[in-house]
Amino acid sequence: MTITDRRIVTLTGIQPTGELHLGNYAGAIRPLARLAADEGREVYVFVADLHALNGHPDPAVLADRTQRIAAALLACGLDRPNVHVYRQSRVPAIARLAALLNPVTSKGLLNRAHAYKAAVAANAEAGRDPDHGINIGLYSYPVLMAADILGLDADEVPVGADQAQHLEIAVDLAQQFARTYRGEVLREPRALIPEAIATLPGLDGRKMSKSYGNTIPLMADPDVIKATIRRIVTDSTPPEHPKAPDTLVALLRAFADASTIRDVETRYREGGIGYGETKALLTAVIEQHVSPLRARYQQLRAEPAALHERLRQGERHAARRADEVLARAMTAMGL
Ligand code: TRP
Repeated sequence: MTITDRRIVTLTGIQPTGELHLGNYAGAIRPLARLAADEGREVYVFVADLHALNGHPDPAVLADRTQRIAAALLACGLDRPNVHVYRQSRVPAIARLAALLNPVTSKGLLNRAHAYKAAVAANAEAGRDPDHGINIGLYSYPVLMAADILGLDADEVPVGADQAQHLEIAVDLAQQFARTYRGEVLREPRALIPEAIATLPGLDGRKMSKSYGNTIPLMADPDVIKATIRRIVTDSTPPEHPKAPDTLVALLRAFADASTIRDVETRYREGGIGYGETKALLTAVIEQHVSPLRARYQQLRAEPAALHERLRQGERHAARRADEVLARAMTAMGL
């Protein structure tokens, strides 16, 4: 195997499917920024715009979301020399590698992929044809994702539980490629489970997720964030009564300093703090954390040409690396 870079290479992608929320930030972006603070790591982070096509987004909406996510990534601590931010579609070797992986991907492997199985199950439930509304992009999602990872010679991929199977498939495909052709051409990645993965609860107490519609936006105006926090569901325990730690406490734990957290936890346990006061405190804590990120984000959004140039840099860098991997794969295959 050609080792082109001795530094640990960490890679992840984010789909441009909606507005970024605090759950994305605490669970994915902030942990990645912390990893990237280590200069001994090289970080590749991309907007998975090709993956988003499976849902047929309106082209203008997709273009706008892609810009927003790229700007948000840069604003959230990833604007560093050892981090390369790029749009997946602008690194052609990735899609070409996906095409080369198709012949070594068994159909049965994709039949077992969770996202496809869930779509088939939903069709069965609704009494529809099993493949109703399922396109080949969705079906082969794990192949493109494997190309994202293997194409950049990634060592480690930070993943939440929902992406673990996709990473296993990427490892499978690297091994299948090695069995089919000579030797180890594609580097096998490993999952990086972020310590104590910060899964934040959303407004209704379930995991914060766009599919539940219970999110708090990351880059919205302060008034919007404040109004959203007010909608967090609480019970009717009066201020003076003891309370069990709830969604508000969980969110504070993710953003407040240690002494604020301790203080609120004590007042919950002993009674003496109401939900209104806790929400106001939480709003202030989040605003303090987010306001410098928002300022940088707005600056990047106001200068699209500069943002574009910054992404072009990341794309040139990623393309150089991916072209090397693609060349290795083509040579191994006799192309
Ligand atoms: N599937 C990931 C998600 O939906 C996004 C993604 C695409 C990704 N390609 C990737 C993540 C490669 C890590 C590595 O969240």
